[in-house]
Parts: sequence; structure tokens; C-alpha cells
Amino acid sequence: MRVSMIGAGYVGLVSGACFADFGHDVICIDNDADKVATLNRGEVPIFEPGLTDLVHANVQQGRLAFAAEASSIAKADAVFIAVGTPSRRGDGHADLSFVYDAVRDIAPLLSARAIVVTKSTVPIGTGDEVERILRDMRPGVDLPVVSNPEFLREGAAIQDFKHPDRIVVGTEDARARSVLAEIYRPLYLNAAPILYVSRRTAELIKYASNAFLATKITFINEIADLCERVGADVQDVARGMGLDNRIGSKFLHPGPGFGGSCLPKDTMALIKTAQDHGAQLRIVETVSTVNEQRKRAMARKVVAALDGSIRGKTVAVLGLAFKPNTDDTRDSPAIALITALQDHGAFVRCYDPAGMEQAKLGLEAAIYCDSAYGAAAGADAIVIATEWEQFRALDLARLKSVMAYPVIVDLRNIYRADEMKRADFRYVAVGRSEIE
Ligand code: UDX
Repeated sequence: MRVSMIGAGYVGLVSGACFADFGHDVICIDNDADKVATLNRGEVPIFEPGLTDLVHANVQQGRLAFAAEASSIAKADAVFIAVGTPSRRGDGHADLSFVYDAVRDIAPLLSARAIVVTKSTVPIGTGDEVERILRDMRPGVDLPVVSNPEFLREGAAIQDFKHPDRIVVGTEDARARSVLAEIYRPLYLNAAPILYVSRRTAELIKYASNAFLATKITFINEIADLCERVGADVQDVARGMGLDNRIGSKFLHPGPGFGGSCLPKDTMALIKTAQDHGAQLRIVETVSTVNEQRKRAMARKVVAALDGSIRGKTVAVLGLAFKPNTDDTRDSPAIALITALQDHGAFVRCYDPAGMEQAKLGLEAAIYCDSAYGAAAGADAIVIATEWEQFRALDLARLKSVMAYPVIVDLRNIYRADEMKRADFRYVAVGRSEIE
């Protein structure tokens, strides 16, 4: 199949490279000429494990190419739209201007047998608007518009793309269904179920899935707070709940709140859509509010661990990315935490294996260090904000020797209280009582 991918950002690049790896002919088109030049030099501008190798292999074998202009679309069997849908300034609605601009750009170029597929996360009803634009610009030409949402996690995107739990195809058009079936055939042969639904249903499946994941995380975070009050251990509570197949063990890890480019933005956009349609989603509204408050509230744990005040003290924050294996710091709990620590009067030293450059763009007052031990130098406390592998086996004796006071606030529960006690650290985790 000949596939064009509009937008060579995170979703477009991962999806394009994976489709090419399935054997399709793929061109990723992006109107950012610098980005296209970078990709054509063989450099991949985003951090995603395995992506650079996948891109190189498929470019070399002639199945993947990048272009700044869209003329190649004329030959495409399917044109995927994978441009960004950021939160609109002011009201939290998804900003669809990039999607509609892309549709207007491609409309005159599409062949009469092409189908248009939206991969960007778009509010319910966006597909109808895309169809209207195409009908206006190409009257009399039947150009089906499909919703095919992605469920990729940053840091595991290639694995997620190649081994999906499900593929959602939203269209009632038979021809569009058979084109999508052909494109996804390699996965279908591996028994990944394809769910054919209406377009609006597909659009909602994406938002409802992310809102549910956000709810699960927020639920366990509140249970963690309760565990601290009543002297229970949230890790064991989560294990005990997760063994119930109806609940499942995933997304029950307590922490400083969910972040990243999707869950916060998508829950907010779903809330707005529901409000516009007069169907209030009170659970999701609460999840969003509780999560936003939680990120800053984590600073209070640090204040408590340092006996009530951090004014003039130095706190080392390990981890800036919203989760490991990404350089993405968008809506990262670590960033909100650092700002709150600074508001409490602390000096912050920080380190992240990949996210420092992104963090620097919005967070100037912190001191950026070149290792966990560098950040810990002279610190009154360490906060583990992201569970990078390299933070899981820190040399505790070495840390203690460089710190002013041996205090660790572990917001990801990656250590055991007894090993910290043996190493003579004051150790505070999430949802677990402190060992005195
Ligand atoms: C998410 C969805 O998982 C994915 O399906 C969708 O397509 C895009 O949004 P992503 O944002 O990459 O993916 O990250 P994810 O792994 O879902 O984590 C999101 C946030 O939740 C992170 O900040 C993470 O630390 C936090 N989280 C996740 C928890 O705090 N506890 C958990 O149990 C799981």
C-alpha cells in the first residue's frame, strides 16, 4: 500500500516507520522544512528507544522517505493525519487548526481512490468536519474519512505499535475498511483484534481509554494518601486489588500524579466536549483537578521530611521527564514539584538522563547537574521524581557521603524502606509508612 503520513512528529514518525517496516511505501510529510532536512540527514529529532534504527533500516530499503511538500500524496492509497492537537489557550479544548489546515492542504491533491485517516487525537465530531471540508473542496469525489486512533506510550511506542491490544477503525465505508485491513494485515495475522466501529465511536474510544487510565492512577494515588494515614502499604493494596482480573494490575502504581503530552490534555478535552453536549463527566473532572493539585502537593512531603521547613535548604530532584525513557517534560509532575519547592524557599539541583534540555526551556532557576551524585552534592534531601532504571540502584553510601543530610523522598516507590534504614537514610515513600 502507498501511505502518506501528514506530520512527522511523535505519532507520525513512529506510525510511518512501523508501516514502512510492515512493507508499505511510506512518505512522511511535514511543513517544517528544517525537520524534514534533519530526517533526510538520517537524524531522528525525537527520543524514542529503537526509532532511529527503525527509520534508518526502512529509509535504506527504500520504503520510507520524508518530504516538506505534499505533491506525492497524489499517489497515496491512504493519507494519515498525525499533526498535533494541543490544548487551546484559555479553555482547554483541543486546538484543531493544524488538523483542518492539513486537510485543506491535501484536499486538492488527493486521488479519487484515496482514503483519509485521522490518527491525531481529535474530539468527537472532528471526522464529520473533515468530511465536510473535503466535500466542499472536492465536490462529487467520494473520499472516505476514517478515525484510527493511536494508543502509543512514549518510551514503548514501537512495541505498542507492533503489538497492540487492539486496532480501532472508525468508519462505515466498506472500501475504507478494506484499505485499513490491508494496511494492518501484518498485525491482524498476529491476532491483534481490529474493532470496526462508527467514526464517532472510535473518536470517543480514544478519549474514554485515556480518561479511564487517568482515573485508575488517580484512584490509587488517593488510596496511597489514605494508606499513609491508616498505616497500610499501598504497594500491597495495589497488588491485592490488581490480582482481581476484573481490575487488573496495570496503572495502579502510585506516584506524584500523571503527566505527559496525552493524559492531562486528553482528560481536559473530554471534559470540555462532555460539557458542550450537556453530559457532565464528574468523575473525570475530579480526576483532572485532583491530579493537578497533587503535583505541587508533593512538595509538602519534602517539607515534612525536612521537619517542617525547606527555606534556604537544598533539594536534589532526580528525574525531570514525566516518565522514564523519554526526554518529554510536558506537564511533568517533576516540573510542578520543582516550582513548588522553589516557592517554599528551597534551592533545587536536578538531573535527568534525557529531559534536561526540554526542562531548561521552562525552568531556569534550578541548577542542572551532570549526574545523580552531582545533583546530590550538598543536598539536604533527594527527591526521586521519575523512575529511570539508573536511579533504581544508586550507590547509597556514595550518596550519603556527598549529601548534607541523608534524606530521600521516593515519589515512585522504587526502594525498600528496610534497605534505606540499613543505609542510615531517612526515607519517605508514597502510601507506605515510614520505618522509624
Ligand atoms: C498515554 C497512554 O498510555 C497511551 O495509550 C496514549 O496513546 C497516550 O497517553 P503516555 O503519555 O506515553 O501514554 O504515558 P503513560 O505510560 O500512559 O504514563 C502517563 C503518566 O501516568 C506518566 O506520568 C506516568 O508516570 C503516570 N503513571 C502511569 C502513574 O503514575 N502510574 C501508573 O500506574 C501508570
